[in-house]
Amino acid sequence: MIVLGIETSCDETGIAVYHTENGLLSHTLFSQIEIHNEYGGVVPELASRDHIRRTIPLIKKALQNAHIDLHEIDAIAFTQGPGLAGALLVGASIANAMAFALKIPVLNIHHLEGHLLSPLLSKPAPCFPFLALLVSGGHTQLIKVKGIGQYTLLGETVDDAAGEAFDKTAKLLGLDYPGGKALAELATKGRPSCFKLPRPMRHSGDFNFSFSGLKTAVLTLIKNHEINDQMRADIALAFQEAAVDILTEKSLAALARTGLTQLVIAGGVGANIALRSRLLQETSRIGATVFFPEFQFCTDNGAMIAFAGAMRLLKQDTVRCPETMNSFTVKARWELETL
Ligand code: KG4
Ligand code: ZN
Repeated sequence: MIVLGIETSCDETGIAVYHTENGLLSHTLFSQIEIHNEYGGVVPELASRDHIRRTIPLIKKALQNAHIDLHEIDAIAFTQGPGLAGALLVGASIANAMAFALKIPVLNIHHLEGHLLSPLLSKPAPCFPFLALLVSGGHTQLIKVKGIGQYTLLGETVDDAAGEAFDKTAKLLGLDYPGGKALAELATKGRPSCFKLPRPMRHSGDFNFSFSGLKTAVLTLIKNHEINDQMRADIALAFQEAAVDILTEKSLAALARTGLTQLVIAGGVGANIALRSRLLQETSRIGATVFFPEFQFCTDNGAMIAFAGAMRLLKQDTVRCPETMNSFTVKARWELETL
């Protein structure tokens, strides 16, 4: 079966075609980073307008690259939430209109389920059950994944998400939005142990995280020092080390508590090299295995939505037939556990 995936929850238009036997046939992406850059963050109205411009041309391109005709699609999966309501509505409207016209089912996909399952697009893939560390711009969660749609939240951030902390700290260091990747690059020039930053909630005994104090500690450092370029890199490294420490320690503690031996990393911060190498090192020390999505599938993309849709279709789950429906919705807020 062939599933078309449409992702428009934030500032990336991602489209993909997934074949349940042959795997990913194609994927296309347009990132709006340059549009939002000058505002220092995503402007929702600009995001929606750009999704309107990009989605249909990208669908055409994805189908062309996959060498398939529109009528060969068996179902359409789209991100129903969480995300920016206006941006979500673009993908939802196009997905539902196409499904109605083609008389095929439509699948409402949870954005975080897409991220969670994205490492399954690579080989070797983890098997159920596994522990997932979801580290994106909007979420930081540790989740026990028993199977498709069987997600138990073990802990999450009580304030900023990890990606948000990277972005806010990057901004304090004068880097462009979204600064996670740029901060990681700057950190490669930093000298270890120049600055010591806190590890909030390290000993909280649960699987929750807190990142806002870390960002505030950076702000205090910057206020109290005459900062030159080298110090900026030193601070970037100190911040990254603190974030990586917290994420690694909590993930290892959750593996120990649940008895799981596979750790899956999902979401944009999963592209961070320091986090990847530290997790590889620590999991191999305890005899566990860590799985990462391909770099291109760490941040928002259509492949993860098409894949999640294909898994749902195989399970005959959450499938709606357009002939029997006369409306559709998006969910700007949506708890993964309610799936
Ligand atoms: O998963 P994602 O595309 O967005 C949400 O669904 O929220 O993740 C985007 C986040 C941003 O905060 C970005 O700065 C961060 O991932 N990010 C990184 C890196 N690449 C992207 N953070 C740290 N190091 C990176 N290499
Ligand atoms: Zn995302």
